[in-house]
Amino acid sequence: MIIKALAIYGSPRKGGNTDLLLNETVKGMKEAGAQVDEIFLREMKFSPCLELYACENDGRCAIKDDMEKVYPKLIEMDCFALASPIFFYAVSAHTKAFIDRCQCFWTGKYLLKKPIAGGKKRKGVFIAVGGSKGQKIFDGPLLTIKYLFDVLDCELFKTLLYREVDRKGDILDHPTALKDAYLLGKELIGSLS
Ligand SMILES: Cc1cc2nc3c(=O)[nH]c(=O)nc-3n(C[C@H](O)[C@H](O)[C@H](O)COP(=O)(O)O)c2cc1C
Repeated sequence: MIIKALAIYGSPRKGGNTDLLLNETVKGMKEAGAQVDEIFLREMKFSPCLELYACENDGRCAIKDDMEKVYPKLIEMDCFALASPIFFYAVSAHTKAFIDRCQCFWTGKYLLKKPIAGGKKRKGVFIAVGGSKGQKIFDGPLLTIKYLFDVLDCELFKTLLYREVDRKGDILDHPTALKDAYLLGKELIGSLS
């Protein structure tokens, strides 16, 4: 059976550090035999959550935009990789808007008792990069990711977090990051096979 993987690029910067890393993870996932769907949030036209609460009726988001194409992929995937830069000690606005639009899955799981994918457990990884040395830069994002993964019924398989990576392409000078990202993709798929 082919493993379906989803890769979500959360940076507004095309070809930036998280793009370079996630691209390696995708290569690793493909090499391990997965079918990978890549989603570039910056290319999508989508709204943040508008608190319409229509999802409380049926677990579905009522907003008609590009997220409509992403929801079925989130339901069908076996695993996923999400990458975001750190902006003001948080994930990027693109990533946060995507996460907030997963509130319909929170409603499904906790209010309607209909978990995403029928409760099937999946796995995911989180990749993040920050420009500073700040020891706490990943604290907020990791908490957000923990709760996102919970509503997506995904185990947080591993994280890759890099500090002091700021200018476009800085990650290329890191001694192990690209290899780490590639191996992460391979390992993730290997753990599911
Ligand atoms: C709006 C904005 C806010 C940022 N805030 C932080 C921050 O709080 N902490 C930090 O370490 N880096 C911060 N950075 C630096 C980015 O995390 C860094 O440049 C990163 O490499 C960008 O990743 P990308 O190339 O994938 O977009 C910020 C950058 C921008 C543009």
